[in-house]
Amino acid sequence: TTYDDWVRSDKFHNDHLLPHDAALEFALENSIKSGLGMIAVSRAQGKLLNLLAKSIRARKIVEVGTLGGYAAIWMAKALPADGELITIEISEETVKIARENIENAGLSGKIKVIIHGAGIDVLPTLGPDESFDLAFLDADKESNLEYFKEAKRLVRKGGVVIVDNAVRNAKVANLADTSPSAEGMRRLLAYLKTDTSVEATTIGTAGEQGYDGFLYAYKL
Ligand code: DHB
Ligand code: MG
Repeated sequence: TTYDDWVRSDKFHNDHLLPHDAALEFALENSIKSGLGMIAVSRAQGKLLNLLAKSIRARKIVEVGTLGGYAAIWMAKALPADGELITIEISEETVKIARENIENAGLSGKIKVIIHGAGIDVLPTLGPDESFDLAFLDADKESNLEYFKEAKRLVRKGGVVIVDNAVRNAKVANLADTSPSAEGMRRLLAYLKTDTSVEATTIGTAGEQGYDGFLYAYKL
């Protein structure tokens, strides 16, 4: 199959399972129009994050890599009235676009966007330990191991850490690809091979965002 087939397949399933949501579509269109690129999670992955947050009754979520706020909006929609999502974005211009999208979705009360913070600087300031239910890592891939260790500290036992772009068109599994992003994901995988405090799996996906996947880690 080709990319066009994957897009058609996603669309077919989404047409059955994902009712039209004006705020989410606005967030995607506004992000692309503003030059953020087509690198948000897919619609189906966004809904998976939403359902996962509901399934584990998440009240506190942390995200690294806000981009236009698309995944944050999906996840925040799953939070109870007193729930909170903290999202960290390094680019000030990107934060402006995310704020527009979050405001448009009526979620400014639940989503706290930390401006101009590198995950590596901001994550260690969050806490207390085990006070979050869910972490979603979708920023620079070089720092994924550092992000993961902090996320693991922050989520409770039974909490979940999801890492986007775990497959990258099978580039992560191709040792000939020595790009910092592939190496970064490989460092995380090597760490997880012997880490006994989480259980994890990678689910590859082929869809509107190409061939990629989520790594799902459950904190014991
Ligand atoms: C890129 C980053 C992402 O988080 C993603 O999902 C897809 C692509 C990128 O930097 O190219
Ligand atoms: Mg991503």
